Amino acid sequence: MKFFVDTANLNQIKEANDLGILDGVTTNPSLMAKEGVKGEEAIMNHYKTICEMVDGDISAEVLSVTFNEIIEEGKKLAAIHPNIVVKVPMIKDGIKAIKWFTDNGIKTNCTLIFSAGQAILAAKAGATYISPFLGRIDDSGWDGVQLIEEIAQIYAVQGFKSEILAASIRNPNHIIRCAAAGADVCTCPLDSILGLLKHPLTDIGLAKFLEDAKKM
Ligand code: G3P
Repeated sequence: MKFFVDTANLNQIKEANDLGILDGVTTNPSLMAKEGVKGEEAIMNHYKTICEMVDGDISAEVLSVTFNEIIEEGKKLAAIHPNIVVKVPMIKDGIKAIKWFTDNGIKTNCTLIFSAGQAILAAKAGATYISPFLGRIDDSGWDGVQLIEEIAQIYAVQGFKSEILAASIRNPNHIIRCAAAGADVCTCPLDSILGLLKHPLTDIGLAKFLEDAKKM
């Protein structure tokens, strides 16, 4: 399973990348706004900086919702760097646009997936990645990881090539369950990745080793 970090914060991206296990970055308009990135030029420069920091796929989301506008915006984003993946919402014009990008060699990430039916349509359009938002499904009282399992099963049976990018991760346990459920990628907040490091017995064990090492 690939690890992406889900943030537009450059310090967090650097910290995740320095671990040596990072395969890419996902952003969305909410994450960009949180970093105070405003205006087309600043947005483009921010994506360029991320692409220069991390050697992997970088999702940049379109803000348009009609076919022609999504295509124009997506072409501009894709021109920033070869690693840019154009992130397109799961709407009718989005599906049409994903098919167009697929036919024209531009990588895509179909975002805001909340059902297996949506995942099938996105795969049919040739999306490189599809992003089920499992944390938001959990927030509504459903089981997000179950959706990952269902999509993984359908894609395996049907031979669909889109990669399942588990998004809206809330904690380390989500990452572990996504790995078991067959996600190809997990995009996580930095805290959830760092949470995988933690176990109290590791801390106790290390303290004891360091204490005993003084007697060596
Ligand atoms: O990037 C999309 C997704 O990861 C959003 O997560 O926490 O806002 O539901 P969240």
